[in-house]
Amino acid sequence: MSEPARKTETAPPLLSVNNIEVVYDEVILVLRGVSLDVPQGSIVTLLGPNGAGKSTTLKAISGLLKTEDGEVTRGEITFDGKPISNKYPEDIVRSGIFQVMEGRRIIEDMTCLENLRLGAYTRKDKGVKDDIEMVYDYFPRLRERNGLAGYLSGGEQQMLAIGRSLMARPKMILLDEPSMGLSPLLVKEVFGIIEKINRDQGITMLIVEQNANFALKVADYGYIMESGKVVLDGTRDELLNNEDVKEFYLGGGSEDRKSFKNIKSYKRRKRWL
Ligand SMILES: Nc1ncnc2c1ncn2[C@@H]1O[C@H](COP(=O)(O)OP(=O)(O)OP(=O)(O)O)[C@@H](O)[C@H]1O
Ligand SMILES: [Mg+2]
Repeated sequence: MSEPARKTETAPPLLSVNNIEVVYDEVILVLRGVSLDVPQGSIVTLLGPNGAGKSTTLKAISGLLKTEDGEVTRGEITFDGKPISNKYPEDIVRSGIFQVMEGRRIIEDMTCLENLRLGAYTRKDKGVKDDIEMVYDYFPRLRERNGLAGYLSGGEQQMLAIGRSLMARPKMILLDEPSMGLSPLLVKEVFGIIEKINRDQGITMLIVEQNANFALKVADYGYIMESGKVVLDGTRDELLNNEDVKEFYLGGGSEDRKSFKNIKSYKRRKRWL
């Protein structure tokens, strides 16, 4: 099968987001110059509070912005060396990027198996059957679920959504809040499988999360976004040891959590401006 993941820092970025601006409905400016790199074979996480623009960033990459009257109005997104900004979502899927949307979005009145087959719709090869087995090997509990996907538990639906993304044989998977609505135990299980898929298959991952604790355990590198901008980035260890990250994102999320914008000591990096 695929080569194992290479997590070297010198690997060229598979995905590069360069200073993009995103506007919804032609007037609402939501991303104000976002840049990030995702090296081949790595797991990168994008963290930040509600409304920061995390999902918008993923949708800009996957082309799903188009379905919400959004547009990349400045900057450039390149994948595998080719520009992909504002392309149609189906063309972006064909180029090797698959987005697992926030809230899972499986087809509720289809079975698990039908959902998985749907994930392979862009493929014409004969490996689909084997890949369904591969998905069941990663998520054994899906194998026993024969009913409609709408009756699966939240965790199982999340597993199915991730499994379905594998069926497209992507080079890269974008995951929007895989921990949403799951118990801590299930989140641990799902993240464990995400890490295993990355290692076994070498699939590059960009994971949007509010749960920084879990995301930073599996990620090689992280970016923190607030109000449409990246305000901090670093390796997993740099972020885990950063005092501000500890206070605002790893401390259990107190209600009156301050913002990076208010930290006097924090100096916004020139390249984000
Ligand atoms: N289709 C849309 N039309 C207009 N504004 C939108 C649209 N989608 C998102 N926005 C706005 O863009 C901003 C960023 O939203 P986005 O969903 O990207 O944030 P997020 O970081 O994913 O937040 P959350 O953690 O709550 O999912 C918000 O202010 C939101 O109201
Ligand atoms: Mg979101």
